[in-house]
Amino acid sequence: MELAGKKILLGVSGGIAVYKSCELLRLLQKKGAEVRVCMTDAATEFVAPLTFASLSKCPVYLKNGAVEARPFQHIDFPRWADLYLVVPATANVIGKFACGIADDPVSLCFMSCTCPRVIAPAMNVAMYNSPAVKRNLEILRGFEDTTVLESPAGELACGEVGQGRLMEPAEIVAYLETRDERRETRDNEGESLPLASAAGASSATPSPVLSNAEASGGHPRNAPEPPAFPVAQDMDPTRDPTLPGHGKKVLLTAGRTEEAIDPVRYISNRSSGKTAVALASVFYANGFEVEVIAGPMEAAFPGGVAVSRVQSAREMHDAVMSRLESVDAVVHCAAVADYRPAHAADSKIKDSRSQLTIELVPNPNILRDCIAARKANASSAAGDARRQVIVGFALETDNFKQHAAEKLEKSGADALLLNAPVASDSGFGHNCVRYALVRPHAGIPEMHMGSKVDLAQEIVHFVLNELG
Ligand SMILES: Cc1cc2nc3c(=O)[nH]c(=O)nc-3n(C[C@H](O)[C@H](O)[C@H](O)COP(=O)(O)O)c2cc1C
Repeated sequence: MELAGKKILLGVSGGIAVYKSCELLRLLQKKGAEVRVCMTDAATEFVAPLTFASLSKCPVYLKNGAVEARPFQHIDFPRWADLYLVVPATANVIGKFACGIADDPVSLCFMSCTCPRVIAPAMNVAMYNSPAVKRNLEILRGFEDTTVLESPAGELACGEVGQGRLMEPAEIVAYLETRDERRETRDNEGESLPLASAAGASSATPSPVLSNAEASGGHPRNAPEPPAFPVAQDMDPTRDPTLPGHGKKVLLTAGRTEEAIDPVRYISNRSSGKTAVALASVFYANGFEVEVIAGPMEAAFPGGVAVSRVQSAREMHDAVMSRLESVDAVVHCAAVADYRPAHAADSKIKDSRSQLTIELVPNPNILRDCIAARKANASSAAGDARRQVIVGFALETDNFKQHAAEKLEKSGADALLLNAPVASDSGFGHNCVRYALVRPHAGIPEMHMGSKVDLAQEIVHFVLNELG
């Protein structure tokens, strides 16, 4: 979703994370969006409406605001908006949204808006895990055009540790920018398209603004570039000790590899690198130091992420192995060629009009070699080696569950991200993908459709949990 020129209504409810909505507002404005704000009474206890009014340069919609001046704010504001963002969403407003109660500006706007809605819950871990909140969030996920963002695990404002943090403002912006454009687009009559939430399956009808390639189900070569990471120059999440990834290092592999046939030809695949960019952004926003070994790819990495470029699978293998010991986690996201030509010709192979056979030999298996090296390091460190988390990717086109189970067992990875990148509505080059995070001894879950940022968040949560 292109944020420049978008009208965004920001609903603020009364949690400790209200101050982060101010930062979110500024980040959205930096991206060129126009933002207006509505607040619950409780939210005004945390940050004065004057702050939001000053930042947004517009009066805030409050329960006891100047009714004479704007009697229909509860309808005007949501109707004006292209997107309704509720950040933070308290347990209380989530309950109201789910049950159809509309007795404050934030829940009123939720009920009266016809644009897509994105909700970022934030609360104490016990509240987050309470049956009522779980049920209400599940109800909201089933609402048309409503997306519930993940609440990352980590240290909470109350001092407890667990799930319920507000997603970082920079991550929310990154999510919005990588959201499938089709979710945002209303048709000519002004009706919302029947689109699924991030966690649900997409049943999107093609919108009039789809490119020809997408509308025909073809490979979207012209899909928009993922955004540069929206962290302001003077903000460096790795320096923030309150972030859960603070002091931790992650190594990512990214993009595809190219295996030379001769000086001008190679064997490769269609990976765009978008998933790796989402992963790098979310790890970075969570305070991790992020290093990437990237093969060729179209997508650009955010500033703050260290990128080393390689071309072939063997180069990627050597680069990863040389950095392995210094990192807390490795996520193998690159689409590495399993095979390479046994011999790359020194000069261009001439067209002789006769059949040509290219002998292929297997490339090193980077995932398995990492796991073997981890084992070796752990035994040589006589038991006091720190935990290193290794996540692989299983890109499959058929027999998904069986292949993922076999790969997980053979590799010995801590988890595998099973993904099906060749569907016409998701995968290579798209911002959405069909995926499941597969863990040992936990059965193989059904794959679901989500944005690549959703996928990245799931992996980051997993890595944080594993690192303890
Ligand atoms: C210091 C403090 C922090 C709070 N933080 C949260 C929070 O992060 N999330 C939440 O759901 N409720 C939180 N609450 C409780 C809400 O403020 C309370 O449920 C309130 O009624 C919510 O109103 P609203 O949903 O209309 O904004 C907090 C309360 C206090 C006193």
